[in-house]
Amino acid sequence: MALTDALKSEFEELVKKYPQRRAGLIPALHRCQEDLGGWISPEIMEDLAEFFELEPIEVYGVASFYPMFKLRPQGKHVIGICENVACDLRGSDEIIDQVCKLTGAPDGGTSADGKFTVERLQCQGACTTAPMFDLDGVYHEELDADKVAAILGELQ
Ligand code: FES
Repeated sequence: MALTDALKSEFEELVKKYPQRRAGLIPALHRCQEDLGGWISPEIMEDLAEFFELEPIEVYGVASFYPMFKLRPQGKHVIGICENVACDLRGSDEIIDQVCKLTGAPDGGTSADGKFTVERLQCQGACTTAPMFDLDGVYHEELDADKVAAILGELQ
C-alpha cells in the first residue's frame, strides 16, 4: 500500500505548521498507520522519505524508535504485555505464556488466523497494579490466570 493523494494533500497542509518540513514526520506516521492498514510498510516509509525530503533510513530510524509505530501487519486484536521489572516480579512471564497459548499467537508475533498479535512492552506506568497488559488500547491490570482467561474468552 502506498501513500495516497489524500494523505499527501493533508501532509502539505501539515508541514505549513512547522519551521522545517521534516518536523511533520511523526504526525504523518500516525496518520499513515491509522489510514493504511494499521502498520507502516517499507513502501510507505519510502513514500514518506520522498515527501519529507529525507532518506528512507531516516524515516525508518524514527518509525523503529517509537514502539507505537508498528512495522509489521498487526492482528485484529493487539495484546501488549508489560515485561518491565514490577510486572516481571509479579508474574508477567506466566501471563505471556498463557496469552500465547490461549490466542495461538507466538511471543512477538501474530496468530495464523490474523486475530491476535502478542507483543512485549516496557513499563506502561501501571506498576502498582502489575502485572498488566494493554488490549487494543485498554489497560487490564492486576492480572492472574483466571482474569486473563476471562478477558480473552470474551474475544473468542
Ligand atoms: S513495570 Fe509494568 S507497568 Fe510498570
